[in-house]
Amino acid sequence: MSDFVLVGKTSDLSDPGQMLAEVEDRIVVLMKVGGEFFCLDDVCTHDGGPLSDGRLDDHTIACPRHGAKFDIRSGQALTMPATEDTVAHEVQVRGDEVWVRINESGAAPPKPALEAAGKTPALVNDTGPWNPSSLTTVMPASPAAAHAAGAISEDLVREELKKVIDPELFVNIVDLGLIYNVDLLPAEDGKTTCKIDMTMTSPMCPAGPQMIANSKQVLGALEGMGTVEVKIVLDPPWTPDRMTEDAKDQLGIF
Ligand code: FES
Repeated sequence: MSDFVLVGKTSDLSDPGQMLAEVEDRIVVLMKVGGEFFCLDDVCTHDGGPLSDGRLDDHTIACPRHGAKFDIRSGQALTMPATEDTVAHEVQVRGDEVWVRINESGAAPPKPALEAAGKTPALVNDTGPWNPSSLTTVMPASPAAAHAAGAISEDLVREELKKVIDPELFVNIVDLGLIYNVDLLPAEDGKTTCKIDMTMTSPMCPAGPQMIANSKQVLGALEGMGTVEVKIVLDPPWTPDRMTEDAKDQLGIF
């Protein structure tokens, strides 16, 4: 078992406050909330975001990259896109000094969630060998695109939207439960206007514009489709229980 290491004075941190520290070659974030101190690996398990740059709110800290939240007391991953806990370390206050002991039984070094979950992008993109710089969020066209004019239905729309992949989670937006509502309205030109209410796994999700554009692209390709409107809805907020069992399987959530 490792020893406690002095990381600073209690007065080094405001309350609430956080600071970066290095303990036995491990980069950690030390946090102070309500007069108590907490310590986590400075690593978001989604894709290595620096939690020390995140927003501290009561006993949670939000990754600055895509908004995953972690419980600062346990390291538990509370919200997507993180699906794995980060490592919490033991903290002791001795007088005005703060000491940290590294939790050696903690999780393996940070990896992107996809890798950590033992998944390969081939699961979601079978257009060739995986190359991180060539990820696409649109699946190859399906025969459904050739449906008869006038036959646009909500089922067809939802099926087409399964071609749109969340670039952070590599799961399609329908199975993630991001599509709240689909309205189909007749347009004057004989086409169909489609209005979609879509949510995000996190209000800070940077993939929103991309998923909206891709949704419009796949639906706009349907014969007989007119205007496609996509509205982002954050109320009610997305929760993991909106995912299908397939999506949970892909993300390794049981
Ligand atoms: S790296 Fe932290 S949420 Fe993506």
